[in-house]
Amino acid sequence: MTKVLVATEKPFAPVAVDGIRKIIVEAGFELILLENYTTTAEFVAAVKDADAVIVRSDILSKEVIDAAEKLKIAIRAGAGYDNLDLPACTAKGIVAMNTPGQNSNAVAELVYGLLVYHIRKNFSGKSGSELRGKKLGIHAYGAVGRYVGLIAKGFGMDVYAFDPFIPAEKIEADGVHALSSVEELYKSCQIISLHIPANAQTKKSINYELLSTMPKGAILVNTARKEVIEEEGLLKLMAERKDFSYLSDIEPDAKQQFVENFSGRFVFTAKKSGAQTEEANINAGLAAANQIVNFIKNGDKTFQLNK
Ligand code: 3PG
Repeated sequence: MTKVLVATEKPFAPVAVDGIRKIIVEAGFELILLENYTTTAEFVAAVKDADAVIVRSDILSKEVIDAAEKLKIAIRAGAGYDNLDLPACTAKGIVAMNTPGQNSNAVAELVYGLLVYHIRKNFSGKSGSELRGKKLGIHAYGAVGRYVGLIAKGFGMDVYAFDPFIPAEKIEADGVHALSSVEELYKSCQIISLHIPANAQTKKSINYELLSTMPKGAILVNTARKEVIEEEGLLKLMAERKDFSYLSDIEPDAKQQFVENFSGRFVFTAKKSGAQTEEANINAGLAAANQIVNFIKNGDKTFQLNK
């Protein structure tokens, strides 16, 4: 029988797991659940006889892929696929896919959760500030960036975006000002929301030079990946500029230095929480299950990443 492994160190909501199971069982396949695991060895053991695997930010490394004796398809239930070793998948003839757009609204809503909490002084009762009228810069206008822009309109913000891969007319059609360079975006906007993927070009690209051009009262919101930040540069800048804050959905490597030196100027989630809603789990989880069934039964390769 075709075995589908769901390997989630950070599990989906139970309602999403029920939905995934229904799709897999109705297709005549078997579902194997590996949740809350703590070692790669557990993942390696579970993937051995799986035909398909669904992961979230779980690391699908060469070690795990090499241990998979029957694997035909690996799905990242989510958008960013920096956790998949695509060359290793390709070398073994495994089709790798993601589920783009499925959890985007959840991530976009968290941007405002982080922002409002921060500008209202962590709900301490001290006088804070508002988003209305502030300039927001969206760095990368994919599915999450677009939702961030749409919500910003409701707050009455002045919204800008930079994305070299999306035509300016498409951005402007949403009532968002399209800027032609990343430098212009950071120079113009007090608040920047990051939505770039983590890859060889973007890692550590958000550096001291770029961030230091942001206007007074700057806030950098990172619901993308911690790897895109040059942490040494950010720490240097925050030491120099008492008006600069950093809000991140996942703790930075240098968390202790932020805690010791920049009280009131950071907010970090303890565990990546952007996509951690029932709705996003259902959207991404069920899409992943359906993509597996469609691939195994009909050879459908829509959303294949390693073409
Ligand atoms: C994504 O890339 O889809 C998000 O970062 C969500 O990641 P998660 O599934 O680990 O919550």
